[in-house]
Amino acid sequence: MVNTIIIFGASGDLTRRKLIPALYELHRKKRLSGTLLIVGMARTEYSHDQWRETLKEACLAQVGKRFDPSLWEEFAKNIYYHPGDVSRAECFPELDKFLSELENHQPSTRIYYLALAPEFYECTVSHLGAAGMAVESSGPRRIVVEKPFGRDRESARQLNAKIHEVFAEHQIYRIDHYLGKETVANVLVLRFANTIFEPIWNRNYVDHVQITAAEDLPIGRRASFYESAGILRDMFQNHLLQLLTLTAMEPPSRVNADDIRDEKVKVLRAVRPFTPADVAANTVRGQYRKYRDEPNVPPNSQTATFGVVKLYVDNWRWQGVPFYLRSGKAMSCRTTQIVIQFREPPHMMFEEGPKHIHEANRLVLQIQPAEGIQIHFQTKVPDAGMKMRLTDLDFNFREKFAGEMPEAYERLLLDVMIGDPSLFARADEVELAWGIIDPIQQVWDAGGPPQLELYEAGGWGPPYSEEWMQRQGRRWFNVCPVLE
Ligand code: BG6
Repeated sequence: MVNTIIIFGASGDLTRRKLIPALYELHRKKRLSGTLLIVGMARTEYSHDQWRETLKEACLAQVGKRFDPSLWEEFAKNIYYHPGDVSRAECFPELDKFLSELENHQPSTRIYYLALAPEFYECTVSHLGAAGMAVESSGPRRIVVEKPFGRDRESARQLNAKIHEVFAEHQIYRIDHYLGKETVANVLVLRFANTIFEPIWNRNYVDHVQITAAEDLPIGRRASFYESAGILRDMFQNHLLQLLTLTAMEPPSRVNADDIRDEKVKVLRAVRPFTPADVAANTVRGQYRKYRDEPNVPPNSQTATFGVVKLYVDNWRWQGVPFYLRSGKAMSCRTTQIVIQFREPPHMMFEEGPKHIHEANRLVLQIQPAEGIQIHFQTKVPDAGMKMRLTDLDFNFREKFAGEMPEAYERLLLDVMIGDPSLFARADEVELAWGIIDPIQQVWDAGGPPQLELYEAGGWGPPYSEEWMQRQGRRWFNVCPVLE
């Protein structure tokens, strides 16, 4: 059957930087079964060829030496452009007619991709509905919704309700691109395809968990978007909470979309709700010093570019184990990692041995960019009495498996085409995630406490974050990965 992807907001950055390069890669790797038609829609007037030319340059810039001009020509002949305005209902029957002709009036799988500014989601969905384009009588009709999915629980609930007026839940694919990363999927493989980790993956052995998503880049030109988002909405509600659910969830009995998502939802439901006093005690917010000099940032901006949230998952497995979620812009390096910090041995019999809690065993899941896993453990230093040192076993994906790590969008787009929503957020999941973030955001928006701490770019956030962690007898794992 023909697959047709219709990209709304086709002239935007996402299409050029992520979607088209990912689809090209799938074509290059021969992962696409049957014919794939790509139709872009936006207000800008382009001919098919003009649009193909724009995409060609963008794709070349993204995939570099993997770009093959003859493969591109083969791929690009199925790319089309149909100018239109998503806010005008009459554009949709025209689009439908264009698509049907392109598909030779044959059954097809249609994927409507909302690569639009969020304020256009609702009108696009209702116009699709009014034009009868969500009806599945001549093949599956799916809709892909990019983040941000709402800006709090209430708006997410309203958006879900609006989409559900037109599309059933099985037709909706809410993207969190972190779920398409190979190393994120590998959290489940590590935990549930091995026997040695799961018996110790609980409060009896784990002291705490650190989930960090640090980025070295500052906000730069994205401030007009970022000012209304901030670190909690941009990184915590989605990416960090997704990493939390995969780390903390119970094993599902089968690998299918609903069983996996049911377990993830249970984790979100078990997260202890935040009172304003908890927000003061268990969160840190910061802003890098030069942020207010970025274009479009007001001189008194209180937007957080760094955040820490310490939360508890109230169930048998995790009772009393803190999960520290941390993210920031303009940090010392780009690294996303999950650190499982194990407890100290119950009795330290080696006198010269380590006495501090941070010297205990540690499992580090490097999500990116140095994808891999390290296990840290004490070793006797040879010929030095009973002196010990923390050493590690180091597994690196790129070393073990030849080839580049694929882009998250490759996997996600393929899953939408085959109709597997396992790696997409369900309606209840998104609303629950906002329910965790909302009370924190409200306190931060009201000026705290905690107060906004300034930090120098190029470090690990405000010094207060280090002191705050030390007061709990713990230390951040501040290590930049070594890239070959
Ligand atoms: C996006 C955020 O969702 O994720 C960005 O809006 C952030 O602010 C990006 O930079 C990080 O994605 P990745 O894949 O580079 O870790």
